[in-house]
Amino acid sequence: MKTTLDRTWLSRILSTLAASLCLGAIAPGVRGGSPDGLIPRPFSMQGHEGRFRLSPSTCVAASGVATNEARKLVEALAPALGFRMKWVEQPAARDCIALEIEASMRERLGEEGYELDVRPERVVVRAPAPAGLFYAIQTLRQLLPPAVCGSERAEGVAWEVPAVQIVDHPRFQWRGLLVDPARHFIPVRDLERYLDVMAMHKLNRLQIHLTDDQGWRLEIRKYPELVRLGAGMDFTAIQRGAGAGTGRAGGFYSQDEIRHLVRYAAERYVTLVPEIEMPAHTGAAIVAYPMLGLYPDKLTALAPEKRWTAHEGVVAPRPRTVAFFQDVLAEVVELFPSPLIHIGGDEANIEHWKKSTEMQAFIRERDLKDEAGLHSWFIRQMDEYLTGRGRQLIGWDEILQGGLAPGAVVMSWRGEEGGVAAARADHAVIMAPTSHTYFDYYQGPAEKEPKAIGGFVPLEKVFRYEPIPAALGPDRARYVLGAQAQIWGEFISTPEHRLYMTYPRACALAEVLWAPKVEERDYAGFLRRLAVDAERLKHLQVRYRPW
Ligand code: ACM
Repeated sequence: MKTTLDRTWLSRILSTLAASLCLGAIAPGVRGGSPDGLIPRPFSMQGHEGRFRLSPSTCVAASGVATNEARKLVEALAPALGFRMKWVEQPAARDCIALEIEASMRERLGEEGYELDVRPERVVVRAPAPAGLFYAIQTLRQLLPPAVCGSERAEGVAWEVPAVQIVDHPRFQWRGLLVDPARHFIPVRDLERYLDVMAMHKLNRLQIHLTDDQGWRLEIRKYPELVRLGAGMDFTAIQRGAGAGTGRAGGFYSQDEIRHLVRYAAERYVTLVPEIEMPAHTGAAIVAYPMLGLYPDKLTALAPEKRWTAHEGVVAPRPRTVAFFQDVLAEVVELFPSPLIHIGGDEANIEHWKKSTEMQAFIRERDLKDEAGLHSWFIRQMDEYLTGRGRQLIGWDEILQGGLAPGAVVMSWRGEEGGVAAARADHAVIMAPTSHTYFDYYQGPAEKEPKAIGGFVPLEKVFRYEPIPAALGPDRARYVLGAQAQIWGEFISTPEHRLYMTYPRACALAEVLWAPKVEERDYAGFLRRLAVDAERLKHLQVRYRPW
């Protein structure tokens, strides 16, 4: 009996030591937070003795632009803590979390970096900009017990943060996810929740695929038929065929809702990147405005579904189609402050242009050489329009064919080749290859998983992904802005399913994009931290795939 007690006592001491010195496994019996559950892993972390305890007397000190982050911190923790920490302007020496902006740190840490110094008597957060404070607060939240993510007061929890000193900044600036309300509409509330969880993992771009053959989801004032006809289609071809899901396909975002979402995302340092597909994946636009299609007269007589399958949603890139999409972009740039505007550009079935006498004549008239030249000409019209309004065009890697529009950014999805070619031609690149970042692909054995579009992208594969292609030398690596995971929506019709496909793979992606590059990635260590993150996800009521 005595031996058992001794052993328990010894193991407690050893584990506490491990937690406070080596930042090893979570110490059993310690009810406070742990430094071993951080996702993504910070750039550097050093453990110290002791713990900082949050209580109703704890104050959060901030002034100027830091005040906003202080308010968010207090509000984010209040539901689980059951009390609101007090906001004060001047930091106190004890029992205080001080948030400070220190512009001189920018050169060393960049816009998103921070320093977090937790000591038993106080916490100091310093960052060159508010984004850094926000990320420090996410780290602080992750250092607390996972119950801090709950929406109701948690009883019997020691709200303690282990004493650590963290210096942190991201490896990549673009840490993205894509969601697809075009295939199955995603209500505003679900997008808000989605943003909450991604921001907690320091992901900072959410591309919304607003238009496709199956639906147009953005109110455009100049062309009301886009949502009147193009958003009401309670149907996706694949959903019907496979019987997958019961979620509603139809719906659209009003411009007021978009403004709200842009603000909501910005408060979490996420940029909403709108994607308006062209010149293909445009079936819903053609349904609403048949003049965009190759055969406007024939189209009006066809049912929507037939129009898509007959013409595969490719517009006729004639000047009035260019004017139409530029009008759409005019409203898009008013709504979305994102410096980059995504125009799709993928999977245009140019066979339809080959067969069209009108398009062939147009190619000859403009000396465009062939259909790839026509595609490129169309993309250039959009590029010039966006550039003229101080924005940059981004598109899937097909925009490389027939010559790349100057200044355009490439999203490399068909492997790495597009990214490599673009970076070699001095274009910025975001890596989004199907092989590692298509989160609509299966993450386990198909017979045990909900029906998916195909493929296989398991968690470990995402974790081991290296966004800088080996074919790029160090001089070109800087063109790779980061990477993005795609959660295409053909088979995903509910928020739970979307979260299940996203997590925990998005945790692995966050780690790849934020944590510093190391020779050998420690997957076992990542899984240990992920176990803590899973507790957080449970408290947030986020469905994830067990691994
Ligand atoms: C894509 O998956 N067509 C970009």
